[in-house]
Amino acid sequence: MAFDTIFQPLTFRNLTVKNRIFRSNISGRFDNFDGSGNQARINWELKFARGGVGAIISSFVPVHIRGRIVPNYATIDNDKKIPFWRALGKAVHEYDCKYILQLSHGGRQRDVIGIEYPKGLSSTDDPDPSHGFQCERMTIDDIKFVVQAFAEGARRAREAGLDGVELHGANGYLITQFLSSAINDRKDEYGGSIENRARFVLDVVRAIRKRVGSDFHLQMKISLQEHCDALELFNRGPSGNTIEESIQVCKWLVEAGVDAIHASTGGFFPHPRNPAGVDLPVEQLVTTYDSMVSSGDRGLLNFLLFRKVPDLARKRWNDAAPKPDEIEGQLLPEARQVKAAVSVPVICTGGFQTASIIAAAIERGDCDAVSIARPLVANNDLVKIFQRGEDQAEFPCTYCNKCLVNVIENPLGCYDETRFPSRDAMIAEIMTVFDPPPFV
Ligand SMILES: Cc1cc2nc3c(=O)[nH]c(=O)nc-3n(C[C@H](O)[C@H](O)[C@H](O)COP(=O)(O)O)c2cc1C
Ligand code: SF4
Repeated sequence: MAFDTIFQPLTFRNLTVKNRIFRSNISGRFDNFDGSGNQARINWELKFARGGVGAIISSFVPVHIRGRIVPNYATIDNDKKIPFWRALGKAVHEYDCKYILQLSHGGRQRDVIGIEYPKGLSSTDDPDPSHGFQCERMTIDDIKFVVQAFAEGARRAREAGLDGVELHGANGYLITQFLSSAINDRKDEYGGSIENRARFVLDVVRAIRKRVGSDFHLQMKISLQEHCDALELFNRGPSGNTIEESIQVCKWLVEAGVDAIHASTGGFFPHPRNPAGVDLPVEQLVTTYDSMVSSGDRGLLNFLLFRKVPDLARKRWNDAAPKPDEIEGQLLPEARQVKAAVSVPVICTGGFQTASIIAAAIERGDCDAVSIARPLVANNDLVKIFQRGEDQAEFPCTYCNKCLVNVIENPLGCYDETRFPSRDAMIAEIMTVFDPPPFV
């Protein structure tokens, strides 16, 4: 078969996946306000299971309500949530697809804060520089509490019959806020040297291993380079962790019991490099960013910037992004360095949608598998297309990032009208996530 490499199973310490394509973390605000899941999320995940991916890595699943970034994302913060995740896992398993749940805590980086916790928690008490969300510096007791919340989340995922968990240690969320030299300004044993900054995530890994044992799959998504200074406009200060520091962290993670590394980039989210796009769709952004105007201290300022000087915002963002022809596989050189340093499989994210590029990356030893988000939103059946021997979909993802700027307010789906016969056809496709509806 063409692209044979892609269809070889991948075996981790505790998990075997039927092929090398993982659906990367992505979801919309499909669930209920209180974090209980609903049928729309099951419908969403089934699009990709049906399409042939080997495993789905869920989107951001908060281990505690204070750690959520937007309402209407399913959570795993108490035992009442287990039956929903069990139902979702069972539905996905019918397609011989594995399900890995992303255990997450947003810390100070949030989008819409909801009503329960106006202030987030963080390694620091500096507000998040993107939107200006206020936060409290975590005490040692707070740290112990959140570490335990991650362990309980893993235990619930296991009880739900899911195939593993991923720590969201990337893109500026709580674990990054400890790991990052650009964010963590603590003077205690959780700040300063990279050894101290890694203490929080290593505590989490050890607590999970203690709670679920050593035979449950555990992986970590990590921003190998943070580029926190990518946007001069938001005055973010230093660049953050280097690849060398991140490789050291990966080695410690593996020693502590992590079974795979999921390579990502960017010390905040979204970041010009993640998800990397060809152009910031500012005009669409202002139609949804209004829901954030009252949220953080910078919301109104950002909104006015996007509204009044869109060309300036666009230029600053685009200048910091990779060139369009560098988006697919942009992280492979970094993934390769990690793979050379650790004994566990490495999954790489970032722009993948061409079978020959994916197969060559695996054959060269840059990574063991790839994770795909937007190109699978654009073509849910991309794996089946590869299986037929085709190198690309007929209408590939254009990396326009219109899905990204819509997600804060509208159902997630592909919003690039140029890929559809008409706007009505695009809307009809987006709305399929509600079919079947929550109540039948
Ligand atoms: C709308 C949207 C939502 C995302 N949500 C998450 C998330 O919840 N957790 C996460 O780790 N990454 C998230 N990502 C990042 C993707 O998983 C992926 O790593 C990134 O988009 C690059 O891959 P791609 O080029 O295949 O889209 C999201 C990306 C998009 C566009
Ligand atoms: S809107 Fe569609 S084409 Fe544009 S980045 Fe998202 S999935 Fe790709």
